[in-house]
Amino acid sequence: MLTVSAIKADVGSIGGHTRPSKRMMEASRAELSGAVERGLILDFDVTHCGDDICLLMIHGKGSDNPEVHNFAWDVFTVATAIAQEDGLYGAGQDLLKDAPSGNVRGAGPGAAEISFDETAKERPAEPFLIFTADKCGPGAFNFPLWTVFTSPLFNAGLMLPKMKPGFRFTVIDMEHAGADRIIELESPEQHIDLAILLRDENRFGIKAIYSRLYPEQQVGAVSTDRLHTIAGEYKGKDDPVCIVRTQGIFPAPEEVVSPYFTAHFVAGDARGSHHMPIMPAPINTAITSAYCIPLVACMAYSVTKDGKLSEGVDVFGNPVWDATRLKAQGKADEMRRQGFVGPAMLPTQELEYSAFRTVLAELDAQFRIVER
Ligand code: 13P
Ligand code: MG
Ligand code: MG
Repeated sequence: MLTVSAIKADVGSIGGHTRPSKRMMEASRAELSGAVERGLILDFDVTHCGDDICLLMIHGKGSDNPEVHNFAWDVFTVATAIAQEDGLYGAGQDLLKDAPSGNVRGAGPGAAEISFDETAKERPAEPFLIFTADKCGPGAFNFPLWTVFTSPLFNAGLMLPKMKPGFRFTVIDMEHAGADRIIELESPEQHIDLAILLRDENRFGIKAIYSRLYPEQQVGAVSTDRLHTIAGEYKGKDDPVCIVRTQGIFPAPEEVVSPYFTAHFVAGDARGSHHMPIMPAPINTAITSAYCIPLVACMAYSVTKDGKLSEGVDVFGNPVWDATRLKAQGKADEMRRQGFVGPAMLPTQELEYSAFRTVLAELDAQFRIVER
């Protein structure tokens, strides 16, 4: 059994919510190298998307492993100490508890994990994609994952024998605190039920996707924790990570990234309070745009049967995505020209987790009833 763990957190950034410092990145790398040397993990990569550090770890310990999760927490603690020392903004922002009880889920960092049998004959090679997104929530992956795994309009590969039987989705209610409240739905039969839930990206997210032809084979995973569900107040955006295994019995990478041409609108942006298009960006991009347009990065990797990771390919760091970036910027410009009005800002119940709660409450107290 091999496990791909992608654990992501914002523990401080330079000059606002831009990016972690080089010192934080180097220290995180050094920690992961040490973990390989002492046999905790088999291989790793460390990247950032905006101000979030993503620890990609390959290991043999399974999903939700306390040792691996506690280790990830320790790495973020080391990076936090550097951020504090260097006076960076939001040091330790996503570390919401004193220490996790063996699992970072519910403690602040986002975790996406997939475990698989590396000897399974239907997977002679193991290519996969890691999507990291900043200034948005886990629901940002609802549109691209629904389209790729249910709609031949975006993924003609769904018409092939290995994918035609469809996929099983685990959808989670992200407003539910504590234990996971989940539902399982199967495409193609229930793809409309899936759409009914996934249209509400603030509440419902895709936690996992499995093949129906090979029911043990998990193809997708998304970190679906929402910081406000944990903390009860706005603590930065949830900035998710998503793993998608590709090729053969699964969609090809070129199919998986196809919905990102849309630069779809997501909940996020400045103060996590707006609807803005998500821009595919090269890995390790800082957030520097007007407002802070949500970014998504995508790295492609291969892993050997003994857990050795290839170098990563920066999928969106390529001129083919330039037109989409300009489109996203154009859509962002249009949306923000109407400032705070209507769809430009999130619905009130989302803003209620932020300091907007206070100003809304102040005004609410001033309303009076006038008899007609
Ligand atoms: P992050 O969640 O990326 O820290 O962003 C928070 C924010 O409010 C930016 O305006
Ligand atoms: Mg931040
Ligand atoms: Mg962030």
